[in-house]
Amino acid sequence: MVAVTARTIVKRFGATEVLRGVDVHVPHGGFAVLVGPSGCGKSTLLRLLAGLEEVTSGEIRFGDRDVTGLAPRDRDIAMVFQSYALYPHLTVRDNLAFGLNLRKTHPATIASRVAEVSAMLGLDHLLDRLPRALSGGQRQRVAMGRAIVRRPQLFLFDEPLSNLDAALRAQVRVEIRKLHDQLGATSVYVTHDQVEAMTLADQIFVLNRGVVEQVGPPREVYELPRTRFVAGFLGSPAMNFLDNVQVAAGGLALPGGQTLAIRDSAQFGSALQPGRTVSLGVRPHDFVVRPDAPDLVVDVELVELLGPELQIHARLGGAPLTVCLDSQSGVARGDRLPLAVRALHLFDPATGLSLRA
Ligand SMILES: Nc1ncnc2c1ncn2[C@@H]1O[C@H](COP(=O)(O)OP(=O)(O)O)[C@@H](O)[C@H]1O
Ligand SMILES: [Mg+2]
Repeated sequence: MVAVTARTIVKRFGATEVLRGVDVHVPHGGFAVLVGPSGCGKSTLLRLLAGLEEVTSGEIRFGDRDVTGLAPRDRDIAMVFQSYALYPHLTVRDNLAFGLNLRKTHPATIASRVAEVSAMLGLDHLLDRLPRALSGGQRQRVAMGRAIVRRPQLFLFDEPLSNLDAALRAQVRVEIRKLHDQLGATSVYVTHDQVEAMTLADQIFVLNRGVVEQVGPPREVYELPRTRFVAGFLGSPAMNFLDNVQVAAGGLALPGGQTLAIRDSAQFGSALQPGRTVSLGVRPHDFVVRPDAPDLVVDVELVELLGPELQIHARLGGAPLTVCLDSQSGVARGDRLPLAVRALHLFDPATGLSLRA
């Protein structure tokens, strides 16, 4: 297994600059997730790592080896895609063995590797089947098996779970992370799904329009987002934003005339100049009910029961606000709901940068 370093990667297709100076470092054995909205350049970056596209400028290293100009076959990587691309006329066994056969690996080695991988993935009883006789999850497992038998130094995943239904997605997600740990692999995984990013990654790279906006462990990126984009992209339901909030002497002047006191203003350094306009962000899960001395009071418009919790659609002044509370909290439509705010985020409305010091 190998560390991966991509330095100031620029990729243009004609006049379109798709990647605008991207840096990625994945340590030996690391699990990096590149996450961002559709079209932000995730697949392009992965294809550059694989050697399926050429960089416009920048450098890619695997360990201390410069692979920037190498062909895919000389990079020793395995890629798993959204579409499984299994050979329909070959059995599971022959699909698994395909790459090794191509490389003229010794038949006894092939047989033992196929046996090992199919045991690992629970495919033993399916080895004689054709792909059309498999479920979606089983096919995706064969695709992963095909990558694993080759024992590459690097695994690249491009949205491998997108074609699976929600329950299976969660299950295969866990399998991928377990396999990574078991193999001691280095993995780079691309997804637009923030839940996959949060659950799988050691390090999340949040991409937006060809730039990495933030890198860090999932918890850090979630709790201390450096930009409004990152704050809004990670988390479900998405963070609430109130724009055009004025900093007043006693706190923040909210829509509808309430003032939100800021208890820990030191975290914002000198950013809280009275008169300044900011964007306020609060995650739906960072509200708690507080009848005595609430931070703010909202009007409840609709309550949805999602099993263990309530998703409450409320208004503050004219602004919509989503609040998530325990399902036992007994909130109903039409309530005036007194809330405390556990954590808040402030952003510069012009740059989108966090005002955290
Ligand atoms: N071969 C190509 N030629 C021209 N434009 C491309 C090519 N591949 C990707 N693009 C463009 O690059 C941008 C990023 O694409 P992609 O990396 O596939 O995004 P993502 O995987 O994040 O959805 C898109 O605007 C896409 O249209
Ligand atoms: Mg893509």
